[in-house]
Amino acid sequence: MLTIMFITTTFFMACTPKKSYKVLSFFFDGVPEPDTTEYLVSVDTILSADSANIVAINKLVPTMFYHAPYQKKQCERCHDQRSMGKTIEPQPQLCYNCHDDFSEIYKSVHGPVGGGFCTSCHNPHKSKTDKLLLRSTQKLCAFCHDSLLVVNSRYHKDREISNCTECHNPHGGDNRFMPQKGSCYKCHENFNEKLKYVHGPVAGAYCTTCHSPHVTKTYKLLKKQGNPLCLNCHEEKLIFETDYHKNTDKTCTECHNPHGGDNRFFIKP
Ligand code: HEC
Ligand code: HEC
Ligand code: HEC
Ligand code: HEC
Ligand code: HEC
Ligand code: HEC
Ligand code: HEC
Ligand code: HEC
Ligand code: HEC
Repeated sequence: MLTIMFITTTFFMACTPKKSYKVLSFFFDGVPEPDTTEYLVSVDTILSADSANIVAINKLVPTMFYHAPYQKKQCERCHDQRSMGKTIEPQPQLCYNCHDDFSEIYKSVHGPVGGGFCTSCHNPHKSKTDKLLLRSTQKLCAFCHDSLLVVNSRYHKDREISNCTECHNPHGGDNRFMPQKGSCYKCHENFNEKLKYVHGPVAGAYCTTCHSPHVTKTYKLLKKQGNPLCLNCHEEKLIFETDYHKNTDKTCTECHNPHGGDNRFFIKP
């Protein structure tokens, strides 16, 4: 039964003594943390809403995520206590005192990560968004990149799918595009499991040699249509020398499956 709801919210909202809090907490212990005070919402407010709204309210219970050292008031781990607001070290070194160095984990590191702009995406103290993010991921990336990159795509435009971090790692990766490991197969059937013979570039997961993951008005997100797609890698002269290729006006994919097949040359049934 639904009786009382506790909602975490800004207790000091009305008088917003944020400034004084910052100053106080620096010099005295025991100053209440402004955002952790529990707030009571009367049952009446909830009952006056219809059931759909109650679900919504439950989901919307404001949450605040805290950075562990901030919550523990270990301000001195990052700040010079004598000089308000100044940090003891520049980023990213400051953060790497406690976190793994991304430049040691990844071959290729994202621009703002390498440049030490961690706080262009993270709040160092607290955030309403998980992982201390300043904004939800799409807006986060659109802060610096073209937000229409994916939205204009014919296929990957739905909100959850166009979520940049479905495909990109925000910190770094094996190459400059920082792909998430196995990102295409998170949503698409795995050709390696399904097909007996897998086409070279497909087996190597070089999906983007043929597909363009965002900007596309093209059929099946293909970079090129028809034979030119295949003749990008296969020698035209050699192909058209052979008997089975000589006298045909069909395109490659009318006879071959582009990803692989049950037979060695992926001939379509
Ligand atoms: C994990 C490191 C870290 C900890 C711990 C930390 N801070 Fe900060 N703080 C920062 C960084 C980084 C900035 C600069 C933010 C930016 O780049 O805009 C900052 C900025 C500030 C500022 C000035 C900018 C602003 O308006 O927020 C104040 C004041 C401040 N911190 C107070 C505190 C207090 C008080 C504590 C302890 C309760 C604390 N910090 C704990 C990293 C930290
Ligand atoms: C371009 C935006 C961006 C920048 C810049 C960035 N991060 Fe992140 N970070 C993210 C996102 C998005 C997540 C959440 C990833 C997830 O949910 O899987 C995250 C998650 C994290 C996490 C949680 C653990 C994890 O790996 O999921 C840590 C720790 C972290 N970042 C530290 C840093 C540090 C340190 C820097 C600077 C050297 C930094 N980040 C720079 C976007 C960024
Ligand atoms: C004094 C040590 C310390 C420093 C310095 C520090 N962190 Fe953290 N950070 C932590 C701890 C502890 C956690 C919690 C780890 C866990 O739960 O696994 C954490 C967690 C995080 C998370 C994940 C939060 C979540 O919701 O999962 C992010 C993002 C993050 N830190 C970013 C940063 C950034 C950016 C900096 C530099 C401005 C930084 N940290 C500096 C100790 C530190
Ligand atoms: C603070 C600004 C900033 C934010 C926020 C940001 N980026 Fe970047 N991003 C950059 C910079 C700078 C580069 C490096 C550009 C270059 O080297 O040409 C870059 C490069 C990239 C590249 C490689 C592009 C290339 O051509 O090599 C990808 C992919 C990328 N970012 C994805 C993301 C994603 C996904 C997010 C959100 C999680 C994000 N970015 C958020 C600034 C940002
Ligand atoms: C469906 C997967 C997918 C999604 C979703 C996605 N990307 Fe990409 N993105 C890729 C792949 C794969 C590449 C590498 C393309 C290549 O190799 O030609 C790439 C390349 C990039 C590049 C560099 C080339 C360019 O087009 O400028 C940037 C920047 C970028 N992505 C940012 C983003 C941002 C920002 C978002 C979210 C709005 C996003 N991506 C969403 C898969 C994706
Ligand atoms: C988060 C899930 C997700 C990820 C990750 C993802 N896709 Fe998709 N993709 C979809 C959905 C959903 C569709 C639309 C399917 C439809 O319309 O039938 C789609 C459509 C496509 C299509 C057109 C399919 C058709 O039937 O016409 C291609 C090609 C494609 N994706 C390739 C890729 C590649 C390459 C990657 C990796 C860079 C990738 N996808 C990553 C979900 C995803
Ligand atoms: C050699 C070029 C090539 C490579 C590499 C490639 N594809 Fe395709 N893909 C195609 C072509 C051509 C089509 C369109 C087939 C058609 O005409 O129906 C296609 C269609 C698709 C479709 C739509 C469904 C279907 O089977 O028709 C999906 C999903 C897809 N590819 C995913 C991927 C993924 C994921 C990868 C990487 C593991 C990948 N592709 C690698 C050429 C390629
Ligand atoms: C990114 C380069 C690339 C593209 C584009 C490409 N291929 Fe391939 N293809 C390869 C590689 C690499 C092999 C493996 C060669 C080997 O194993 O000897 C291969 C093998 C093949 C084979 C089997 C040949 C054999 O001897 O085993 C066929 C058939 C084939 N491709 C057809 C196509 C068709 C049809 C297209 C267009 C849909 C296409 N390829 C596009 C790189 C590509
Ligand atoms: C009319 C159907 C047809 C068309 C169209 C076709 N192929 Fe083939 N292809 C075949 C057959 C049949 C084989 C041989 C299979 C065998 O030996 O069992 C073959 C074999 C191949 C091979 C492997 C042997 C070799 O000659 O290297 C490659 C690579 C290849 N095709 C690529 C292509 C490309 C690229 C295109 C488009 C330019 C294309 N094919 C168009 C039917 C076709």
